[in-house]
Amino acid sequence: MGSEQLLVDALSALRNDDRSAAAKYAAAAAEEGSRLGAELALHLDTATDRAVYDQPAAFTTFVRGGGNVELYERLSDALARRYDQLRPATLLDVGCGDGLALGPALERTAQIPATVDVVEPSAALLDAAKARLAESGLIFELRTWHATAQDFFARLADGRRWHLAQSTFALQSLPPDERAGVLRALRETTEELVLAEFDTPEYPEGSPEHLRSLVTRYERGIAEYGADARLVAQGFMLPMLLGQAAPTGGRNNWEHPAEQWRRQLGEAGFTYLTTEEIADYWWAPAVLIRAR
Ligand SMILES: C[S@@+](CC[C@H](N)C(=O)[O-])C[C@H]1O[C@@H](n2cnc3c(N)ncnc32)[C@H](O)[C@@H]1O
Repeated sequence: MGSEQLLVDALSALRNDDRSAAAKYAAAAAEEGSRLGAELALHLDTATDRAVYDQPAAFTTFVRGGGNVELYERLSDALARRYDQLRPATLLDVGCGDGLALGPALERTAQIPATVDVVEPSAALLDAAKARLAESGLIFELRTWHATAQDFFARLADGRRWHLAQSTFALQSLPPDERAGVLRALRETTEELVLAEFDTPEYPEGSPEHLRSLVTRYERGIAEYGADARLVAQGFMLPMLLGQAAPTGGRNNWEHPAEQWRRQLGEAGFTYLTTEEIADYWWAPAVLIRAR
């Protein structure tokens, strides 16, 4: 049996809560030469939870390597172009992470907002974002909020508004029912939202095509990391994969085609929507959706 089918069987076993069968299939895939198989076997042997942003070494290495290099280059360029066109005096970044998209975008624009608010629930990533923005030497007022988007908007003082809000690959972390409230709050408090997300293909959850697609894409993704593959796979990619393949054990994100993002934005009251593809990324094409 080829490694791809063995890995599909491993994910199927995980869906059935059979961790030891999954580990055996993963080890067999590793013997066939699959890097994903080797990492999955190790992960099933050693990992205890699925958190991905609390100990950020793996995420920060992930996001600075592989196909993310080109993706973030293009993303920051596109954001900077939007600042240039819109000249926002106030900017809000929801789920800013360590500032990898925001920092270079601010460095590349001729129109730096006077005030930038960043919201981020991971203390470690927020500290890294603060340090990065401080080191940039750019002059603007930075306000940092250690909170989830849900808590930030629930506690927001009346009358706060921003010219532009951005959220790059962060709103996928919110379960759809909680995301709806955050999108409505963004609609009410901002003139424009720029959302970067992945246009992920849709399959019936847990179907053989779904599991096969996850296997193919993650094998390609891990292969992009060379010497960092172990750190990135164990600390970030595999907890993500397990959350997508066997969500009853806990998931980290909720993704779907760009069309569904546009529908959710429409339901939140946004009317003007444009979509631009930013990069053909291993996981799925990355898109930038502008909403007003
Ligand atoms: C894939 S990272 C993207 C980070 C950053 N925006 C970037 O483009 O590099 C997802 C981010 O969403 C944050 N996040 C997770 N849950 C969140 C929530 N409920 N509200 C706001 N941000 C959240 C994570 O801590 C993480 O920083």
